[in-house]
Amino acid sequence: MSLHFPKDFLWGGAVAANQLEGAYQEDGKGWSTQDVMPNGIKTSPTEVPIESNMKLIGIDFYHRYKEDIKLFAEMGFKVFRTSIAWSRIFPKGDELEPNEKGLQFYDDLFDECHKYGIEPLVTISHYETPLHLARAYDGWVNRKLVGFYEHYTRAIFSRYKDKVKYWLTFNEINSILEFPFMSGGINTPKEKLSKQDLYQAIHHEFLASALAVKIGHEINPEFKIGCMVLSMPVYPLTPHPDDVIKSMESDHKNMFFADVHVRGYYPNYMKRYFKENGINIKFEPDDEEILRNTVDFISFSYYMSTCETADPAKQIRGEGNLLGGVPNPYLESSDWGWQIDPQGLRIVLNAFYDRYQKPLFIVENGLGAVDQLVTNEEGEKTVEDDYRINYIKEHLIQAAEAIEDGVKLMGYTTWGCIDLVSASTAELKKRYGFIYVDRHDNGSGSLERYRKKSFYWYKDVIASNGNSLFE
Ligand code: BG6
Repeated sequence: MSLHFPKDFLWGGAVAANQLEGAYQEDGKGWSTQDVMPNGIKTSPTEVPIESNMKLIGIDFYHRYKEDIKLFAEMGFKVFRTSIAWSRIFPKGDELEPNEKGLQFYDDLFDECHKYGIEPLVTISHYETPLHLARAYDGWVNRKLVGFYEHYTRAIFSRYKDKVKYWLTFNEINSILEFPFMSGGINTPKEKLSKQDLYQAIHHEFLASALAVKIGHEINPEFKIGCMVLSMPVYPLTPHPDDVIKSMESDHKNMFFADVHVRGYYPNYMKRYFKENGINIKFEPDDEEILRNTVDFISFSYYMSTCETADPAKQIRGEGNLLGGVPNPYLESSDWGWQIDPQGLRIVLNAFYDRYQKPLFIVENGLGAVDQLVTNEEGEKTVEDDYRINYIKEHLIQAAEAIEDGVKLMGYTTWGCIDLVSASTAELKKRYGFIYVDRHDNGSGSLERYRKKSFYWYKDVIASNGNSLFE
């Protein structure tokens, strides 16, 4: 048996506008929900942006993208996943006319990618709803957001129809379950938000996503439009059937999002959940038909697995990528308590593929760690990040195993291919990149970029189309 990656495999890296661009009110950009989240998900949003928010400057990608894309090209990237900041295009979100300077920025960015043969993969909404839509409309709870999103997608699809082929509609759409403000621009505090309003908001996002698929294919039939879900396999903590049922129910809550996107209708297990929780989703006459515009592929983030148990005494929540769960006694954790489970990636790839037989794309995976900048024997500043190399290598080997299992995998983009501000903690010391950025949580730093050891390692992985992983 020889593990391998397909010859047209899309190798690359991923980022999101709000976590690296900075320039939070330059060239007509409006404020987004991220601009008032100085502590990530740890505290409530502030009224207006405050200086300690690391995202306001980010890593200044807005002004330095040419240098950064060049470094990505040096690693041999075939694809670069980024997002468009909605509030650069429609500063408040409900305007009729787009902001030309915002549009121009992404024109220039995509041109720069193409200069090196790098294909952009664009998330339309990545945790950065225009703040006005959150404050004046309560975000996705309000059906008007469907229309604003449709207007926005038409603007960007038409503008970039010859520059962008791969699109994702909402980043980690299922994270709205836990973080309604960050994920769904819902201003009502989570503890006051009813399940009815939460699931109605989710319905609106499904409609918007399906409309994007429809409109996108009308504008350019070559577009490949995917959903993006936060994947986290849920293992039963013990083989007790109660624990297995608990993990199945927990899994359903997330699979629901991919199910609607791929099948085009609500699964029966959710109908039961709605009935038992007094939720009555308001469908308008065309909604069922709109939802039938299903995605071309499924993309997902994968960082960790988790466990569930029916035993209340053992229901301790561990740290984790937004959704969290009961820690697995067999796994080690990252510096931030996220449990490391490369085999979980093979499990999740098989689960998606068995369920849908649609192409899959791993659009986030990586290790957030504290890095130490050192000077090596050649006198270069670098980071000896063997821990990151090991993490990514182990995960890629499991991806190759899944390919051998028969899964159709389009590509792999590591999260935070260049250091950027963390979504959950708003820290810069939680670094993911192959490229070190000299900026620190107290605001100091030159913003200089340095190649880490993993930079050269990933370059070899791409150059050998993954074969170097198996040497
Ligand atoms: C995902 C998000 O949750 O994980 C990213 O899509 C995020 O925006 C990434 O940055 C890593 O999480 P964190 O909290 O370490 O930045």
